Amino acid sequence: MKANQIANVCAEYNNQPEALIEILHDVQHENGFLSNTALIDVANALNISRAEIHGVVSFYDDFRREPAIGPCIKICRAEACQAVGGEKTAAHAKNKKIETHDVYCLGNCALGPAVMIDDKLYGRVTPKKLDAIVKQRSAS
Ligand code: FES
Repeated sequence: MKANQIANVCAEYNNQPEALIEILHDVQHENGFLSNTALIDVANALNISRAEIHGVVSFYDDFRREPAIGPCIKICRAEACQAVGGEKTAAHAKNKKIETHDVYCLGNCALGPAVMIDDKLYGRVTPKKLDAIVKQRSAS
């Protein structure tokens, strides 16, 4: 994302520092991560310090400072998914050293355990199904 594109994203939020988190999410959605250059561009557009923006980025686990190596896999760890085996799926991913992020509800509670890979939502994800999905996505 070029500086002028980042400036456009900031302008959509009227260059309001209060919208920093939304802006960072938009930039990350486009870029896949938040580079130093992107953070400087956002800081300049919002007229905030680099220290301030780095503080926000480092506080929230959702922000990535490096490009993802593989797909972004989110496993729901909330109660409804836990009740139908979500913890087994999460433990399986950990054992197989599949990089995942814990989230607390993906809005797919009726079809738990729920998993989101990049922007695609999956339901009833058993350890076996997780392996199959990851394998299929790696092949495509
Ligand atoms: S509790 Fe897992 S999707 Fe809602």
